Amino acid sequence: MTDTLEIIDLHAEIDGKEILKGVTLTIRKGETHAIMGPNGSGKSTLAMAIMGHPKYKVTKGKVLLDGEDMLALPTDQRARKGLFLGFQYPTEVEGVGLLSFLKTALADVSGKKVPILEFQKSLDEKMSSLSIDPQFASRSLNVGFSGGEKKRAEVLQLLVLKPRFAILDEMDSGLDIDSIKTVAKGIDSIRRDSGVLLITHYKRLLEHVRPDKVHVFADGRIALSGDASLADQLEEKGYDWLEEENQSVVE
Ligand SMILES: Nc1ncnc2c1ncn2[C@@H]1O[C@H](COP(=O)(O)OP(=O)(O)OP(=O)(O)O)[C@@H](O)[C@H]1O
Ligand SMILES: [Mg+2]
Repeated sequence: MTDTLEIIDLHAEIDGKEILKGVTLTIRKGETHAIMGPNGSGKSTLAMAIMGHPKYKVTKGKVLLDGEDMLALPTDQRARKGLFLGFQYPTEVEGVGLLSFLKTALADVSGKKVPILEFQKSLDEKMSSLSIDPQFASRSLNVGFSGGEKKRAEVLQLLVLKPRFAILDEMDSGLDIDSIKTVAKGIDSIRRDSGVLLITHYKRLLEHVRPDKVHVFADGRIALSGDASLADQLEEKGYDWLEEENQSVVE
């Protein structure tokens, strides 16, 4: 299938412990899906397994981009194919400036030379649209950035790389109200041409970036899927309600 990211019956473990217990999900270009769910239910594990983090071992299932097996490829190749992961906890990289990091990442992912002046100009515009101070371009990547500044730097990376499918793990955590709007604006600008998987705990981001579907994660699986209104229900009722619903289905 073209323009789709398919996750089929994905199982993954960490240090021999099964965390993902069969996740199936299809995202098409232009669609935004949200994943919500309690702490420790495996949301970040799903993101890491899709991207190929070495700590997360896929034991069963498939990840297909346009029908092509992503699990057979190393992480950098997955990125070249158009997969992107915005981390819940972005890493600090001492000695690598933000501008130089982004330029190298773009050259690597696109396989093309990136003319510096042109790049700098478009980066200036993107930074300004995300209200990132120009001086951040020369600062070491994420080093000493506040929580919110790190998240903005992840969105900047998203805008530079324009991936085909973006998995954004808690892009909104720790953001103030204005920053949530800014981050939402950034996501909004790529969502028509990409597929987006938004992992979040709060409906506030989803009020700005209205998802096509909401999936609720519980114990390594998607327990329930619905439309955007599901996020409202969850915020109101919490997750216990879901367990009760599930039990009543089982009984
Ligand atoms: N490196 C690791 N070593 C051991 N256990 C891990 C590791 N990473 C994750 N886990 C465990 O896997 C489970 C799922 O973690 P994960 O980070 O995927 O949850 P999450 O749904 O993203 O939670 P949160 O909402 O708190 O971000 C947790 O019980 C966690 O302790
Ligand atoms: Mg997480």
